[in-house]
Amino acid sequence: MIHLLSLSGSLRSTSSNTQALHAAAKLVPPGVAVDHYDEIGQLPHFNPDLEDHLPESIVDLRARVVRADGLLISCPEYARGIPGSFKNMLDWLVGSPDFPGKPVALFNTSPRASAAQAALKLVLETMSATIIPEACITLALLGKQADPDAIASDPDNSEMLRRALQAIVGHISAA
Ligand SMILES: Cc1cc2nc3c(=O)[nH]c(=O)nc-3n(C[C@H](O)[C@H](O)[C@H](O)COP(=O)(O)O)c2cc1C
Repeated sequence: MIHLLSLSGSLRSTSSNTQALHAAAKLVPPGVAVDHYDEIGQLPHFNPDLEDHLPESIVDLRARVVRADGLLISCPEYARGIPGSFKNMLDWLVGSPDFPGKPVALFNTSPRASAAQAALKLVLETMSATIIPEACITLALLGKQADPDAIASDPDNSEMLRRALQAIVGHISAA
């Protein structure tokens, strides 16, 4: 079984990014399970002083990332950058020895959110993640009231998500 961990950069209850990740979970090929991490809003602010005595929530976050064979990330753009809460989570993962080499699929739900995607790629590359280019997709969900079932049953969106999932799963299987 291949385990993927999905992480949304939006805390909004009806977030298009979270909905896209839930849609992806409905479209995974057989033999793949998706676990969604939804505690980003509860993480403490990153502080290097705490690295020697990690808070329980960070121990759990890192353990879930370690257990995952790959990450599905979907993140909005705030003020031409990465939302602070998501960057905070990534900062906690910088010191995680198992993060380098982690395969990552990057979803974007807004075609105009190019600055945040570029910034996210730079941060993830700096953290030595393995970004799978064929698994980086932009869905046109901005301004649409989309639920996971609607996204998963839309021909264009589901096709893009399926291809992205195949790309990251193919990379993991071949490793
Ligand atoms: C505080 C704030 C700042 C935003 N800044 C930008 C921006 O710089 N560029 C952009 O394309 N969209 C911006 N947006 C729009 C969001 O990226 C957009 O609403 C996105 O769909 C939110 O993702 P979600 O549906 O997953 O919550 C901003 C939204 C908020 C709330």
